[in-house]
Formats: sequence, C-alpha cells, structure tokens
Amino acid sequence: MSTGYVLAIDQGTSATKGVLLDGTGRIVRAASAPVPISYPQPGWVEQRAEDVLESVAVAAASVLEDVGAGEVSAVGLSTQRESALLWDLSTGKPVDALLGWQDQRAGSVCGHLQDRRERVRQITGLPLDPMFSAAKLSWLLDRHDPDRSSARAGRLAVGTVDSWLLWSLTGQHRIEAGNASRTQLLDLRTGSWSPELLEIFNIPEAVLPEIIPSEGELGRITGGPMGGLNLRAVLGDSHAALYAHGNVGTAAKVTYGTGSSVMQPATDPEGDDRPTVCRTLAWADPRPQVALEGNIRSSGSTLTWLAELFGTTPENLSRLAGESSSDGVHIVPAFGGLAAPWWDENAQGLLSGVTLGTRLPQLARAAVESIALQVDAVVRAMGGAGSILADGGATSSDVLMQLQADISGVPVRRARERDLSAIGAGLLAARSAWGVLHPLSYDDFHPAGSSADLRAAWLGAVRRSRLARLDGE
Ligand SMILES: Nc1ncnc2c1ncn2[C@@H]1O[C@H](COP(=O)(O)OP(=O)(O)OP(=O)(O)O)[C@@H](O)[C@H]1O
Ligand SMILES: [Mg+2]
Repeated sequence: MSTGYVLAIDQGTSATKGVLLDGTGRIVRAASAPVPISYPQPGWVEQRAEDVLESVAVAAASVLEDVGAGEVSAVGLSTQRESALLWDLSTGKPVDALLGWQDQRAGSVCGHLQDRRERVRQITGLPLDPMFSAAKLSWLLDRHDPDRSSARAGRLAVGTVDSWLLWSLTGQHRIEAGNASRTQLLDLRTGSWSPELLEIFNIPEAVLPEIIPSEGELGRITGGPMGGLNLRAVLGDSHAALYAHGNVGTAAKVTYGTGSSVMQPATDPEGDDRPTVCRTLAWADPRPQVALEGNIRSSGSTLTWLAELFGTTPENLSRLAGESSSDGVHIVPAFGGLAAPWWDENAQGLLSGVTLGTRLPQLARAAVESIALQVDAVVRAMGGAGSILADGGATSSDVLMQLQADISGVPVRRARERDLSAIGAGLLAARSAWGVLHPLSYDDFHPAGSSADLRAAWLGAVRRSRLARLDGE
C-alpha cells in the first residue's frame, strides 16, 4: 500500500467535484461545488471562466481541509471538453464568456465550411459540428480579433477548460492531448495541431496552447488551496471515466452526466470509417490510446430541465418514472440539435403524444426513456456491446439503469462510485506517483422484457424532430 493521498478534481458542466483517494484507491473524502450556467439566447450556453476556476478552488479547499500539503502525493484533473474561451495574456482575463460545449452559436462557421466536411473528419476523426472547440474559437476570434493581429502578436490565448485551468494553476499555456483532440484542430495521426485545419478555421497557431501528454510531471500548482502540489494527470472527463473502468473488453462505457458519452477503445485506430461515430484520442500516457465515441448532447440535463419547469428534482422525476408508463408520450431532447448518431444540428426538441390526461409521471418516464433510447441508438451505431459500464450523476436512477438494460438487451453494470471522471484522473495521477491501484465494484442490472415497440415509436419521434431539416433536403 502507498502512503499519502491523491487529490482528484473533476471540472464538470454542472459542478466541480473533488475526491481524496488513499493509497488503496479508496475515497476518503468528497466534495462538490456548483458552477452557474446561463442560456442568454436560444442555442447559446455560457459559463464564466472565473466561476469555473473558483469552483475548482472551493472543491479542492473543502476536500483538503485538515490535510497537510506534504500528505498529498499528486493531483489529477479531469475536465468538461470542447467548451472554449479566449483570454488576454497581459491581463489574464477572459475577453468573453466560456462557450459551453452545448453552445450552438458557431453553427454559421460550420455552415460556411460544408465543402470541407469530409476533410475535417478525415484529419480529426470528428464530424464538422459547432459542438467542437474549433468553430467556437473561430467565432470568438471573428468577434474580438477579426484580422487576427492580436492573436498573431501573441497578445491573446485560446483554450479549453483544461487549458484555462492549467494556465491559471501553473502559469503554462498548455492543453492535454485528449482534450486537444476534441478541439477539432488536432491531426489524429500526428498528435499535433493540423496546419490545414488551422487555415480552414482561420486560427493562428500562435494563439494555441502547447500539447502535453496526459500523465507525468505536468507542473507545480502555484497558488490557492492546491498551492505547492504536483499535477500528474489531466484527462477529458469522459476519457477519465473510460480509464477508471479499466479493461472494458467488449463492453461500452457510458457516462450519464449533463450529456452522455458512449466510448469503446479502438482496436484499429485508423480502421473505423462509420460516419456517425467519432474517433478520439482518449489519452496519451505517453502512448496514444484512440477510442470510438458517440456523444449525446442532452441526457441528465433533460431531467434538470423538466425538474426546473415543475419545481422538483431529477431524483423525484426518477422516482415518478418508476411508477408510471409514458402512455405514448415521447421526448426527443434535441435542445441544441442532435449529436450522435444523427449529427443534425437543425433537429428540434420535441414533446409528442400528450393528451389532457398527461401528467408529470408520464413526462418523467418519457424523459428517462429518452436518455436510455439515445444511448441505445449510439451503442447500436457503434456495432453493439456485450454490456454497458455505466457512471455519472444520472446513474443514481435505478429506473434508468433497468430501462437501459431492457432497451439495449444487455447487462448494465453501474459503478458503485458515481464520480468516475474524478476517480479516473485520480487513478492516472496515482499510477504516475505510486503504480496501479484497485479495480472498481459494480451493481448489475439484467435485461427483462423487450422494448422493441418503444424503440420503434421513439425513433419515429426522432424522425419528426428532424423534419424541418429533412423537408429541406
Ligand atoms: N437521482 C438522480 N436521478 C436521475 N438523474 C440524476 C439524479 N441525480 C442527478 N441526476 C442527473 O445527473 C446529472 C449530473 O451528473 P454529473 O454530475 O455526472 O454531470 P456533470 O459532470 O456536471 O456533467 P458532464 O459530465 O456532462 O459535464 C444532472 O443533469 C442530473 O439531472
Ligand atoms: Mg461529468
């Protein structure tokens, strides 16, 4: 057993979580700090970079209370991905909001690049979409540095949440390799910024962070509650969860957070050409591990949205969903279009099948079903899976887990620790400091009964949510 602790921080969309792992990988303390989010216009999703940094400090301080700096061997960090910002290097201040990964305002940037669609996918493994950072950064630069003179002169810096935190905590303008692959500016084959993509998106290289591996001596934290501690791992949040599950075999990893990420390690990094599935660098430790991934924009956030409308909680909605059928009500949560496997930014959110008898339990059930049905659609697009390894906040819902097993027809194994993004970053930092730690434990949900009718009916609703687009084709 190793002595001391590893501090793991997961900077998620709705909250920053902190956990302290001991030398056996056991969680000895955990804390969470919420991060405000705003929706100033349809399709816009913003956070304040200062709030993100503050939430990290609050979560870290709370976990480290009474723990001496000398007792912490390493820090691991995981972060929400794709969200993008621009800051002024002389003042250190962001020059605009942090554009959240769900933000769709850069759709116009992608609209102008339709003829480059296939090339972008060839280089990055990702479909051209405003979810990724490249279009967002291009939009931010168009607004604040239209001729790119400040960017070229080195007065501005761009980055993702991990680069903002690395810069704020260690003073270095850097980005972790897996997060870099989610910008849509990385050449997946070389692991470097692609000159061709920088030209396509009109982003000068001078404004970009330096790409670093996911594990190693990644910098000493200079101030705040983590001051003096050594950062030894940085990962994208979904990637960290995949790392935490360990050897997944034929399973698919599904993180049920604000959105969802379905991932499987790619056995042949260059071999998969299914257009609905992304290829992503999961991590570089320093050997690159490529993964297949499908992203879902709205899973837990569908419950948060419905809960806020009805003045209740996701937990209560999950309870109601367990007591009712949806009675033909369907929700397609295309709040900002649909991501995998449809990648249709013009799909519209849809609530269908409502009658005068529809009440909250039916809506709650339809909302929970929409999460499981989207995950199922992605797993099928990826060629199926022998089981689903589940993690994230929404896995607290037994109803969701059982529905997923029924709809997908495979066992769902729920990690007992919900916060696998933090734990994955902690385990990678611990490996760097001490060596490999423990495997996880799971609760199992087995399929019972068929849901073919539900799936067919819901896919019909998905087609209706995409009508505006399909009519135009
Ligand atoms: N008891 C519950 N039942 C169902 N869903 C729940 C429950 N508790 C929380 N959730 C859902 O979990 C989500 C938050 O999960 P989590 O903390 O993993 O997200 P996050 O890390 O902030 O987001 P992301 O990983 O997508 O950036 C919320 O959207 C909420 O609706
Ligand atoms: Mg998360």
